[in-house]
Amino acid sequence: MSSQSRKQDHVDLTVENQSDYEISSGFDQYRFRHNALPEINLSDIDISAELLGRKFSMPLFVSSMTGGYAGATQVNEIIARVCQDLNLPMGVGSQRILLNEPDQLETFSVVRKTAPNAFIAGNIGGVQLIDDFPASKIDILINSIEADALIVHLNPLQELMQPEGDRNFNGILDGISRLVSDCPVPIIVKETGAGISASVARKLLEAGVKVIDIAGSGGTSWAKVENLRKINSNPYHEFNNWGLPTVVCLNEIVQSGIKPDQIIASGGIKSAGDVVKSLCLGAGFAATAQPVIASIHQNGENGLRDLLTRWSDIMKFTMLLVGVDSVEKLDSSYIMREL
Ligand SMILES: Cc1cc2nc3c(=O)[nH]c(=O)nc-3n(C[C@H](O)[C@H](O)[C@H](O)COP(=O)(O)O)c2cc1C
Repeated sequence: MSSQSRKQDHVDLTVENQSDYEISSGFDQYRFRHNALPEINLSDIDISAELLGRKFSMPLFVSSMTGGYAGATQVNEIIARVCQDLNLPMGVGSQRILLNEPDQLETFSVVRKTAPNAFIAGNIGGVQLIDDFPASKIDILINSIEADALIVHLNPLQELMQPEGDRNFNGILDGISRLVSDCPVPIIVKETGAGISASVARKLLEAGVKVIDIAGSGGTSWAKVENLRKINSNPYHEFNNWGLPTVVCLNEIVQSGIKPDQIIASGGIKSAGDVVKSLCLGAGFAATAQPVIASIHQNGENGLRDLLTRWSDIMKFTMLLVGVDSVEKLDSSYIMREL
């Protein structure tokens, strides 16, 4: 199975929502506290937010997804154009393929050509860092998209479910430490849906990682995706619901003292309400993948534009209805546990 057809399989299996966890991300355990007297003009609500020293129109990162197969150029171009226009940060999918198949460059470089001013993050698997990862490889990842940051994904569950996946996860933390020293742009570390605990987050921050994207359980289940792939004749469905729910990760990371500007909440962010709840619970930013690829699948560039414009409106309405006018002021006083 080539990397190209694996990436195509991933998109095909996630666009229809058939590969979500059957457990909840946890956001549905909370309701907003309605304020009947908000004393705010809707036009004064400011949903702009900072990440890694840059200001964005709202606290939403379009998660790493694609690149490296025939259809990826068009998807990446759409995401890049919308992120450029709306001033939102985006990640490309794993660039591992570029290290072996340079002819796939266009599927990634299209993002920088389309979005000269957008914040764009590269992406590489932690497993790739176990062995020597020389400056020449870092250059390929960064230069192909003129990256503003590099995301390292941790995905032991996903790899174990892939018949062709990696089996050695020993030495990733050292590899990340070396990357932090050698890489000219900040490092973000993310999971892909099984979550990052407080103790893992601490180790990563001590290694010099700038931001943790928790990518917890409750949205796309990568065990399920891999188990649904036709190539997989020996699926381990026992792991389809494996992982730390997003809100569990977020709560324990926040309680451990990690600051909002170091935390992106993701994994099952399905609505603007989930974005606002993430910030109420202590994240500085949120990120989403599946709703983005689904909106493009349904209605192309307009689908994504409509989704994000709607989320922006709903964020403002939500903040007005709880009586808060800027995202920095969001905290747990604006939500309550479901009855
Ligand atoms: C089609 C698709 C492809 C993905 N490819 C990557 C990837 O190459 N690298 C990565 O770090 N994460 C990848 N992800 C994982 C997402 O970035 C995200 O962490 C995960 O899907 C959980 O978010 P969600 O519940 O909003 O989908 C991919 C997700 C989707 C839907």
